[in-house]
Amino acid sequence: MNKRVLVAYSSKYGATTEIAERIGKVLREAGLRAEVVPAEEAGDPAAYDATVLGSAVYIGRWQKPAARFLKAHAEALAKQPVWLFSSGPTGEGDPMALTDGWRFPDGLQPVADQIGARDIALFHGALDEDNLNVLQKFMIKNVGAPSGDFRDWEAITAWAESIASALKDPAQA
Ligand SMILES: Cc1cc2nc3c(=O)[nH]c(=O)nc-3n(C[C@H](O)[C@H](O)[C@H](O)COP(=O)(O)O)c2cc1C
Repeated sequence: MNKRVLVAYSSKYGATTEIAERIGKVLREAGLRAEVVPAEEAGDPAAYDATVLGSAVYIGRWQKPAARFLKAHAEALAKQPVWLFSSGPTGEGDPMALTDGWRFPDGLQPVADQIGARDIALFHGALDEDNLNVLQKFMIKNVGAPSGDFRDWEAITAWAESIASALKDPAQA
């Protein structure tokens, strides 16, 4: 029986939704039964064999639905393989260089440790200035984050492929 994988995410303007959808597509192409669901609509992860959870990052924090999901289901998640991702930095180059080494909110790290997350990835994000209010525009200008779509589909696809390989490897999953 092919494994069921939950891909849950939080997105404000849609960039992270598309990242989650790409991850789901790669997992399905690898023969896994992946369901891509907004974190606030996702059910109990115990119904799945594995979970991938990601969120857009705003001012160093995950969106509330993804953070809540992680904390609320920590016990169930600890019993299965889990992969986490943040989607945030805009600009060229290594995403961790753009965030000065940041990849995941400090406040959630103890939960990630508790559940034994297999990996925590940081992906480039996308910023459309037309979506932003004056304060948000000021904030991104202040941190020097350029607007535009910097999502690295190759990196996202490769990461999802590595998840599929792990789940299909009887020695690992
Ligand atoms: C006000 C504001 C604050 C942001 N803060 C961060 C941040 O702290 N770290 C980061 O990596 N990206 C930050 N970003 C970039 C977003 O995370 C990025 O645009 C993301 O891809 C948006 O995803 P979404 O379309 O799914 O909401 C910020 C963007 C805005 C508008």
